[in-house]
Amino acid sequence: MKKLFLLDGKKIASQLANKIENKCIKLYNSYNIRPGLVVILVGKNPASETYVRNKKKLAQKVGFNSYVRNLEEEISEDSLLNIVEEYNNDSQIDGILVQLPLPRHINPIVIMDKVDPQKDVDGFNSYNTGLLYSGAPNVVPCTPKGCLILIKSFLDDISGKNALVVGRSNIVGKPMAELLLQENATVTLAHSKTKDLISICKNSDIIVSAIGKPKFIKADWVKEKSIIIDVGINYTINKAGKRILVGDVDFEHVKEICSAITPVPGGVGPMTIACLLSNTYEAAIKRREIITEKF
Ligand code: GUN
Repeated sequence: MKKLFLLDGKKIASQLANKIENKCIKLYNSYNIRPGLVVILVGKNPASETYVRNKKKLAQKVGFNSYVRNLEEEISEDSLLNIVEEYNNDSQIDGILVQLPLPRHINPIVIMDKVDPQKDVDGFNSYNTGLLYSGAPNVVPCTPKGCLILIKSFLDDISGKNALVVGRSNIVGKPMAELLLQENATVTLAHSKTKDLISICKNSDIIVSAIGKPKFIKADWVKEKSIIIDVGINYTINKAGKRILVGDVDFEHVKEICSAITPVPGGVGPMTIACLLSNTYEAAIKRREIITEKF
């Protein structure tokens, strides 16, 4: 029988979180400092509320000072800019994350650009985006960073592999393609207008799907022994009428063809949070000019 490798994001994320927790203990014992993270949530998007709750819980667990700032859906762009500025000037805050999506009347680019680049733990600020695309990143966006860790947990050398990223969002698709390029993969960035996606899939050693379409990637599209990373978080109703969470990939069938695959849930999701913790810890060390050789 074919041996399948399940890319266990839950396990790898928890190992990463444990490492950060230990570093936080040392940081506190040596400098009496806890990294400070604020997550700003505008409005009442139920999915965002869940993500933000999980981020806060894990940040507290590893020893951060972790805050959530809930704001009314109707808040003006100017007022939100002022609140971001407040945290830019707060010496106890090392990381600022403005949860996306924002309400339609607020331009996310304007808000991301207000975040102090040193406190931009998402890596969405234009300055940090520029550094990422020049190949000298200051901070790497959490979800693509987590996906790359998962790929590398199975495959040491990505160089020369055909990598396909499906979905061209600023949050996942574009930075993911860039990271794979920096690993010397031959990268295709596919999107809704891409022609003949199936044959591109069939030619890909690595597929990262981030399009938000339930079970979109089918078993007969994927190459044998490929690596499949599923970023999708889609809620659907199963045959029993129950609401269930599924990814972009038809997991049950695709797992019979590929050599490694992430489950949903328990794959990319936990890695995103672990990478947020890692980015926040790094931001705290850099901004406070702490020399870690001491511990
Ligand atoms: N919404 C979905 N993913 C993300 C993320 O990684 N960062 C932020 N700020 N919002 C998101």
